[in-house]
Amino acid sequence: MRTWLVTGASSGIGEAIARELLNRGDSVVGVSRTRSPVTADKFRWYEYDLSSHQSCIELLEAWKGPNWQFNGMVAAGGMNDRQNSQRESVSMLDHFQVNCLGHVRLFEKALPYYFREDTTVLVVSSYLAKAGSAEYPAYSMSKAALELYFRSKSRLDPITYNVLYPGRVATKGNPRRMLSADDPNTFKEPCEVAPVAVWMLDQGLRGMTGQTIDLGR
Ligand SMILES: NC(=O)c1ccc[n+]([C@@H]2O[C@H](COP(=O)([O-])OP(=O)(O)OC[C@H]3O[C@@H](n4cnc5c(N)ncnc54)[C@H](OP(=O)(O)O)[C@@H]3O)[C@@H](O)[C@H]2O)c1
Repeated sequence: MRTWLVTGASSGIGEAIARELLNRGDSVVGVSRTRSPVTADKFRWYEYDLSSHQSCIELLEAWKGPNWQFNGMVAAGGMNDRQNSQRESVSMLDHFQVNCLGHVRLFEKALPYYFREDTTVLVVSSYLAKAGSAEYPAYSMSKAALELYFRSKSRLDPITYNVLYPGRVATKGNPRRMLSADDPNTFKEPCEVAPVAVWMLDQGLRGMTGQTIDLGR
């Protein structure tokens, strides 16, 4: 039986991936700031604020009891502030804290104690991490930085990591809206993306590493 850590498990893509893993009989530990709506015998939820060092310490303290041994992690927690300019350094810091450093700090601290040696990581990233973005520079930089962290980490430790660009998915973070007539992309549902993510996790355990699957813009 496999056990997975899923960040961003309270909604959208992270929640859908957690449900997909549970549906096939795996165990899931979900983390987020607000409680996840997922309920299942094999699901445990913990509060974790990706932007807070203290929150990370408290999460690791709470894990001492169950002493989890994760087969891998899904990094699905994230933010993209569409309301405010992402050119301000304060916005850049916010995006780096949540999208990048929150995962880095947890993984660095938890890897020796709570992950199996041959663990795999799936980064739910964005096409913008590759293309850059005039509108969302802080978002695209912070996602690219997270990908590069895991690429670097996989050179140091015996982990595999892969990256999923989910395309446009209707979630709280990216609500469904009318698209212009010349926009070739449509909104997917989170449950359409989740099976691809689970397949990538399985391939990661089989040794696939450094691969990106791009499901569209
Ligand atoms: N939807 C898309 O079109 C799309 C496209 C490309 C990439 N993505 C990526 O997919 C991932 C999931 O996003 P989504 O679209 O599913 O959006 P969502 O429904 O808003 O989910 C975002 C998740 O991240 C968590 N989160 C946000 N800030 C956090 C913080 N400070 N600490 C801990 N958890 C935090 C949220 O939980 P709490 O608020 O409860 O903390 C929530 O579970 C994101 O990384 C996003 O960049 C999405």
